[in-house]
Amino acid sequence: MNQPAPVTWKSRWTFILAATGSAVGLGNIWKFPYITGENGGGAFVLVYLACILLIGIPVMIAEIMVGRTGRSDPIHSMLALSRESGGTKVWGLVGGIGMIAGLMIMMFYSVVAGWALEYVFQSVSGNYHGADPAQIEAHFNELLTSDSQQLIWHSLFSFITATVVAAGVAKGIGKAVEILMPLLFLFLIILVGYSAINGDFSAGLHFMFDTDFSRLSGDAILIAMGHAFFTLSLGMGAIMAYGAYFPGHASIGKTVMTIAVLDTVIALLAGMAMFPLVFANGLTPGQGPGLMFVTLPVAFSNMTGGVFFGSLFFALVSIAALSSSISLIEPGVAWLEKQNINRRLSTYGLGLIAWVGGVASIHYSAVFDALDYITANIMLPLGGLLIALFVGWRLDPKRVLDETGMANGPLFSAWRFVLRFIAPFGILVVFLHSLGLFSALQALFD
Ligand code: PFF
Repeated sequence: MNQPAPVTWKSRWTFILAATGSAVGLGNIWKFPYITGENGGGAFVLVYLACILLIGIPVMIAEIMVGRTGRSDPIHSMLALSRESGGTKVWGLVGGIGMIAGLMIMMFYSVVAGWALEYVFQSVSGNYHGADPAQIEAHFNELLTSDSQQLIWHSLFSFITATVVAAGVAKGIGKAVEILMPLLFLFLIILVGYSAINGDFSAGLHFMFDTDFSRLSGDAILIAMGHAFFTLSLGMGAIMAYGAYFPGHASIGKTVMTIAVLDTVIALLAGMAMFPLVFANGLTPGQGPGLMFVTLPVAFSNMTGGVFFGSLFFALVSIAALSSSISLIEPGVAWLEKQNINRRLSTYGLGLIAWVGGVASIHYSAVFDALDYITANIMLPLGGLLIALFVGWRLDPKRVLDETGMANGPLFSAWRFVLRFIAPFGILVVFLHSLGLFSALQALFD
């Protein structure tokens, strides 16, 4: 019997778009600007960039390499490489934990994405135009306390995500990112232009790039490291699953640089689309998660073109969320497909599980917070640590060299050194910190 041809992306560029789509999401537009705001701005951005370079990029190369070599879902790819190198089956667990982490992230991610969809609707209807800040804040609080409102938007977002994934890798995810990503970039450029013309651009620039290390707490360094994982979609097999469909044998190093640079540039541009508007309206950016859902609509509400550009902004956020959420369930779907369960059934089944978790997140904010906390601070760093150790220490360096497609030179040696020593050490620090916080929290409740 003939083996079916392996599923691959149309080209290396589709892979880059899909992986960038996974990386660029609520993390860049919702989380990054507010944690930058909360942690003092410039110095935080610098530490975050260092984390991307020293932990994010090396681990991403490792993940794609494992996926492309294993050519399967994260569990089977890890198992195959482990078997080949004489390792134990336990390594397969890394893929398994990652798949579960993906579903857990989806359980709160789709709720926030639902808010963004609701805001597209509100902005397009012009409901924020001329509204005063108290009204806008009251609306957000109303949304947060209305289970039924959130349920509608959460369900709609979950359904759209599942529909894209169910349509397949090339025809669903690949097609979607080929349309969504250029659109996302276009919207972002327009918004940065609008912000440059109508906002206080220099205040925004100063805020993001003035480095005052005295304002940087130890906690901020750890938050920056955790965010490097979250924003690059690392530690849970999303990028590994996408890597399994990587066509050909091009160097992974260059591809990863492109993805990491795009993700970082988009996070910085998102900041430049938001902060100047916030400052021009005499508002402050250090207000936490409400930055995007309260401060920014307040800014748009009293600016010319606010209805159009506000709508554009929330459409941008929704697109970014969708191109990420599809990668949260793909690893699990790929695994179920490998068990001969049809793709449609796998996708809607996993989508339903995530949807139920989302309903719990809507109703119990403690569930929402716990899912966010456990995935970002424990599961992703743990997954990343294990992947770094697996590729850095378990696999044969010659095989690794061959499979990354990199030249055998100083760049490869530097990558391997960072992967073996620097990244695990950095991740361990984040991880222990999270555990420390964890026990402190527990002590608080005892
Ligand atoms: N990288 C996404 C963001 O920044 O919003 C979040 C994410 C997507 C994390 C996919 C992990 C993942 F596998």
